[in-house]
Amino acid sequence: MESMIRDIKLAPSGHDKIAWVKNFMPVLRSIDEEYSKTKPFAGKKVVITMHLEAKTAYLALVFKNAGAEVIATGSNPLSTQDDVVAALVEDGVTVYSWYNCTNEEYDMFIDKALDCNPDMIIDDGGDLVARIHNERPELIIGGSEETTTGVIRLKALAEQGKLKFPMIAANDAYCKYLFDNRYGTGQSTWDGIMRTTNLVIAGKTVVIAGYGWCGKGGAMRAKGLGANVVITEVDPIKAIEAVFDGFRVMPMEEAAKIGDIFLTLTGCDNVINEKHFALMKDGAMMANSGHFDVEINKVDLLKNSVSHRPVRKNIEEYVQKDGRKLYLLAEGRLVNLAAGDGHPAEIMDLSFGVQFFSALHILNHHQEMENKVYLMPEEINTKIAQIKLKALGVELDELTEEQKAYLAKA
Ligand code: NAI
Repeated sequence: MESMIRDIKLAPSGHDKIAWVKNFMPVLRSIDEEYSKTKPFAGKKVVITMHLEAKTAYLALVFKNAGAEVIATGSNPLSTQDDVVAALVEDGVTVYSWYNCTNEEYDMFIDKALDCNPDMIIDDGGDLVARIHNERPELIIGGSEETTTGVIRLKALAEQGKLKFPMIAANDAYCKYLFDNRYGTGQSTWDGIMRTTNLVIAGKTVVIAGYGWCGKGGAMRAKGLGANVVITEVDPIKAIEAVFDGFRVMPMEEAAKIGDIFLTLTGCDNVINEKHFALMKDGAMMANSGHFDVEINKVDLLKNSVSHRPVRKNIEEYVQKDGRKLYLLAEGRLVNLAAGDGHPAEIMDLSFGVQFFSALHILNHHQEMENKVYLMPEEINTKIAQIKLKALGVELDELTEEQKAYLAKA
């Protein structure tokens, strides 16, 4: 199959990028070492639809080394890196993707990938699964899903009895959300905000909407940077957690009056809207790191502004009727990806370990699995954590036989 990419001559810098992240991904390296010998995916075609940058490229190569024929497409028109996919093609992966493709090209790439009749899929956001269910009759063994939003879409399909093959919710594994959603989003979100604004965080009042895994990470890192952190929530348990973590919790209508920087991390829509814009201080900034650009109501913001203009890369100024200026970062899209480089390699190492073992589990057990959304088996979380700790040089205590007996007592 012939790849469709921008320019194969870009490959050298793509190889450099992949080599760099590989240094920091010991879990994937150890998987690579083990399964490139046994090649469990031999004879299987795996379609990967993900953000095609260096970390994902390394995952694609690990699947290839484990025997799979790998076909890759992007999961967002803006996240494919042309040099990285050129390197992937040189390394034997078929790729249909280029940066800044049109929506028609995006769909065409997914169709091209599915034309190979894949056995398994790795999806990020649910577009591949949706395509198969809505328009293509492909017979798939099963696959795994990377994100919260994709998992929500999968569960909806399963509840309606429409899911056609088993899928593992990689997002819901401990080794994914505890680290990726919390530490990955926490760090990369503030990296995106700081490099975009070039302003100090210390001393500012940061309002974080949502105290789930991503919100906890965002709040923890904002506190570490010296911000006064305020949380808004709708879940009473999460709100108590935030209080005991040392944060003030209040409704957005109160927080709107005091915030310098607002960050949404809820997965919900219309979290900051015209009621709140009307109360904000002159110069308030807003960013979102939830999956879709619906958490800050951009329609309301535009409607209530007398003018708006870009003032710096990834910052739009909205002048309100009373002259106050409000700033929206990265068009309200995932600020850590749109204005940054996404999660660090060490974090994606864990997430992609989950992806690999989820796919392997489906490969080995699909015959006894139903067309449902499954959690990754618990022992795989432990295995991934053990590989990571070993790579970090961290040792643990072990239970003695007496302790095991004590813990097993009724
Ligand atoms: P979660 O379910 O753990 O947390 C969401 C929290 O938001 C919950 O505590 C919920 O009660 C709260 N919430 C919902 N509606 C709210 C509202 N209107 N006002 C205030 N709080 C509200 O979900 P998680 O894992 O933290 O993910 C959050 C979002 O971030 C999702 O859209 C997810 O897809 C996305 N995400 C983004 C990443 C990135 O790289 N930026 C990485 C991982 C997830």
